[in-house]
Amino acid sequence: MKNVALITGVTGQDGSYLSEFLLAKGYDVHGIIRRSSVDYRERIAHLEGKPNFHLHYADMSDSMSLVKLVGQVQPTEIYNLAAQSHVQVSFDAPEFTADVDAVGVLRILEAVRTNHLEQTCKIYQASTSELYGKVEEVPQNENTPFHPYSPYAVAKLYGFWIIKEYREAYNMFCCSGILFNHESERRGETFVTRKITLAAARIAQGKQDCLYLGNLDSLRDWGYAKDYVECMWLILQHDKPEDFVIATGVQHTVREFATLAFKYAGIELKWEGEGIDEKGINVATGKVVVAVSPDFYRPTDVVNLWGDPTKAKNELGWNPQTTSFEELVKIMVAHDMQKVAADHVAGVMRINLQEYLEHRENR
Ligand code: NAP
Ligand code: GDD
Repeated sequence: MKNVALITGVTGQDGSYLSEFLLAKGYDVHGIIRRSSVDYRERIAHLEGKPNFHLHYADMSDSMSLVKLVGQVQPTEIYNLAAQSHVQVSFDAPEFTADVDAVGVLRILEAVRTNHLEQTCKIYQASTSELYGKVEEVPQNENTPFHPYSPYAVAKLYGFWIIKEYREAYNMFCCSGILFNHESERRGETFVTRKITLAAARIAQGKQDCLYLGNLDSLRDWGYAKDYVECMWLILQHDKPEDFVIATGVQHTVREFATLAFKYAGIELKWEGEGIDEKGINVATGKVVVAVSPDFYRPTDVVNLWGDPTKAKNELGWNPQTTSFEELVKIMVAHDMQKVAADHVAGVMRINLQEYLEHRENR
């Protein structure tokens, strides 16, 4: 039987890497897209037009669209990656977050059941280390109690439990990957890592003066997204449906990430002050290039995520340290140094073209 994957969230960071991974394995890949007033498909632009890659309009908040699409595509595997995935935004849009991140999971499960595919279609749910939230133990593994600490995490907790419920009630092959933070050069620009690497590149090239951040002490277990999508697939190839923690097992603070990113951008930082008054100073110039702003503090923040990937290592044969923290930061900074330089050239060319057109009109 041909492997047919349906990916929700195909335009996102993980969706784009997973599409590449599955296409390379010979899958037919179908992805869900939403209509937008601007072009937002840059992460998958290079895949459009490939014979095995298909895009369909649907929405996680629209049951009918999901039922119809699942019936049409007849997937053998569904990867449910679609979500309002920004924790801070979930405080501003909690109802939307719950609709997409919680009830959306139920809609996918019901779309599979409505089309009588529950014994032939496996489902991967993009669960998250945010479930551990106000953590009750470190490091966190599959048996650590959950304590969600944001509207996003509470919505994702529903997704986790409804997957487990359908697995037990209807004998479906559906599993959650409890993924710790994973980043890349395709990471959304408002997540802290990408915000830092882009700012470091801009500051190094004289395009920005200062980067404003929130909690610098927050600890994360950061991996490389490209390595993590393999795990999503491995979880569905396992002989029985189970949930897995996917993490590197190594923790760093936001401050450490920033120090390294600026170093790779050619700026040595020294830190002075504490809390809201803390500053990152460029040692070479004495200028403040990183400052703290209360705008980026959250009503409740998750500050100590540290995953234990032993089960994934032993049962899936996955290597959690394929890309080290240092390599990850280096990849992201190198990409953003090039991007900032290219944006500058494109900007100069736009100005030159504008001047030329104005000059021609005035002749
Ligand atoms: P991302 O870059 O923010 O991508 C989210 C995707 O969801 C986008 O394709 C987005 O489409 C889509 N989406 C949002 N609302 C939708 C809706 N109503 N209907 C259909 N599609 C919708 O997220 P990511 O980093 O790739 O993460 C993928 C998944 O893993 C998410 O569920 C996230 O919560 C979870 N997760 C991520 C991490 C991490 O560190 N990256 C860790 C643990 C879990 P548009 O492009 O149209 O907005
Ligand atoms: N975004 C952001 N912006 N975060 C900041 C900033 C800032 O300026 N300054 C400090 N932080 C801190 C946040 O308070 C948080 O403790 C940490 O940096 C990481 O924030 P994000 O990069 O926004 O990611 P996240 O951990 O909240 O959520 C991501 O990872 C989850 C897995 O643990 C998202 O990808 C979620 O979708 C995912 O589930």
